[in-house]
Amino acid sequence: MSTLEIRDLHVSVETEAGPKEILRGVNLTVRSGETHAIMGPNGSGKSTLAYSIAGHPKYQITRGSVTLDGEDVLSLSVDERARAGLFLAMQYPVEVAGVSVANFLRTAKTAVDGKAPNLRSWVKDVNGALEKLGMGTDFAQRNVNEGFSGGEKKRHEIAQLELLDPKFAILDETDSGLDIDALKVVSDGVNRFHGKGDKGVLLITHYTRILRYITPDHVHVFVDGRVAEEGGPELAEKLEAEGYASYQKAGSSS
Ligand SMILES: Nc1ncnc2c1ncn2[C@@H]1O[C@H](COP(=O)(O)OP(=O)(O)OP(=O)(O)O)[C@@H](O)[C@H]1O
Ligand SMILES: [Mg+2]
Repeated sequence: MSTLEIRDLHVSVETEAGPKEILRGVNLTVRSGETHAIMGPNGSGKSTLAYSIAGHPKYQITRGSVTLDGEDVLSLSVDERARAGLFLAMQYPVEVAGVSVANFLRTAKTAVDGKAPNLRSWVKDVNGALEKLGMGTDFAQRNVNEGFSGGEKKRHEIAQLELLDPKFAILDETDSGLDIDALKVVSDGVNRFHGKGDKGVLLITHYTRILRYITPDHVHVFVDGRVAEEGGPELAEKLEAEGYASYQKAGSSS
């Protein structure tokens, strides 16, 4: 049983005009076994939250805490966070020129586990993960994300999730740009991960479509750098019907 706890998190980025506050007091607790969906308008800070938890250097934590089973995550390096069991699937996965998927995955696995994976079973695991995500095994020899279609990049993120086996997965719009079949394949991957039982999932999404396949225990409405409302899966339906206007009015007057 693990707990990822975000308390009063304030985060700024450096801009030419000086520091700009993006997260303005985020409170969120994810326990193993739980799936949380975060929904919110463009620019509300969802990706910033994901990057801040993962340790992106661009984001300055100005107040608050992130802990994993009581351990201060914010004092850890990006590598240490991954080793502690945090995984981020990025909204815009980056190309890694000259590094094959096979090498990338083995290096990541070695870093996360602190030892190289057993070679024979590893190749089988990699091919199995790619196949489950509907990617041919020839993807293992291609450079990471180079020339991948949008949907292939997202599938590759979930293949990583499958192989790296973290405690908590933060999935930033892993459903965006997927066709209907790919959405199902990716959702199945997330559900397999969740089905291991002791895993926490933080799913950032714009669409209730994915929530037909992945049932969240909690839905958080993210507006203007903080959680504006929380509820169960029914809240996602309400958002789909009504949008965010009521929250944004409340946000701008504060
Ligand atoms: N380096 C930066 N300089 C200036 N502004 C930034 C920087 N990084 C992020 N921001 C701003 O912070 C806000 C939050 O961005 P973020 O990407 O977290 O939003 P989001 O909720 O993920 O949006 P989307 O739904 O479009 O993915 C945006 O207004 C963005 O322009
Ligand atoms: Mg985003």
